[in-house]
Amino acid sequence: MLTCQKELFDIPDGVTYLNAAYMGPLTKRAADVGRAAVEKKLNPWSIAISDFFELPNRVYELSARMIDANPSDMAIVPSVSYGTAIAAKNTPVAAGQNIVVMADQFPSNVYPWIKLAEENNAEVITVPWPGDGDWTAAILAAINEKTAIVASANAHWTNGTLIDVVALGRKARSVGAALVLDLTQTLGVVPFSVKEVDPDYMVVGSYKWLLGPYSFGFMYVALRNQGGKPIEESWITREGAEDFTRLVDYKEGYETGARRFDMGEKSNFIHAPIAAEALSLILDLGVDNIAAYLRTLTDHIAGSARAMGLNVADDDKRVPNLIGINFAGGVPGHIASALAAEKIFVSIRGDSIRVSPHIYNDKADIERLFDVLKKEL
Ligand SMILES: Cc1ncc(COP(=O)(O)O)c(C=O)c1O
Repeated sequence: MLTCQKELFDIPDGVTYLNAAYMGPLTKRAADVGRAAVEKKLNPWSIAISDFFELPNRVYELSARMIDANPSDMAIVPSVSYGTAIAAKNTPVAAGQNIVVMADQFPSNVYPWIKLAEENNAEVITVPWPGDGDWTAAILAAINEKTAIVASANAHWTNGTLIDVVALGRKARSVGAALVLDLTQTLGVVPFSVKEVDPDYMVVGSYKWLLGPYSFGFMYVALRNQGGKPIEESWITREGAEDFTRLVDYKEGYETGARRFDMGEKSNFIHAPIAAEALSLILDLGVDNIAAYLRTLTDHIAGSARAMGLNVADDDKRVPNLIGINFAGGVPGHIASALAAEKIFVSIRGDSIRVSPHIYNDKADIERLFDVLKKEL
């Protein structure tokens, strides 16, 4: 079993940071890598042409390894909304068809579908919160012969309730619908394999659970979609981009695989090395091991919450890394300030206190949280 990795981070003893779902910290090593990358820009002659390609290549390789994909299936994107825009641009929807989303899904995986549906006289079907907490059954029931796209995640971002994306993939394929996944709230800490799920597109931001920089994420594009249209027509996604002397010999063809979908300036000399350092750490520790460790923490949260008569999802209906403590009438107003006064950081999302521990947390952090909740409720 993995142990607490707090020594890798710069989190002072008085701070109880239980909010990776909001923003993940860099490790001290990743910050050093970032500082060295900033220093390099003081002397731009030290930035080699090979850096434009080798840095992103490392990100493709590491991110692909995390999800059982080939490096050529990966693209670098600045945000989840960029990735879902690529998916929306390349997934045909006919009049009368529908696009299935969950209630209160994160907007970057909702707005493009509202727009696409409007443009094509199609309909967005919003699956309501299931009374029994079973999102999988509720989403599966909403998918029908008219479904063109299922846009989902493997956990609800507000409270960590679980969605079985293997089952979603199977059902989507059976009706000819595309599956578009946003795994920003789980990738790196919950195992995921494109071989098991077979999504059409999967996109993730790196700044939360992946412990990476902001404005830098990645995307998986299934082989069957790699002939699609990119958002940008960048020089670096075209064949022969390595030859800086001949960039004005404009090329018809793109680089192979998912390269065409990369964002412009994908070689970000500061973000890419930080992201690669962060991905390497997570792969070294092992996503399965991280998930098992975080499960012990969220189980402890669930047990403590139930002992106080508070409401959390059943253990088999939540992911290991993220848990919502639900208050039927809304979270009492004074709780957020009481926690902040003790330097305990969580998020309020909807009617839940969302608690999201990562590898730098331990059970003592959970106990500090519940000491305050017991005092204040
Ligand atoms: C589930 C989920 N997706 C995506 C994002 C971020 O989206 P974007 O990269 O488009 O800003 C967040 C941020 O909280 C999120 O929780």
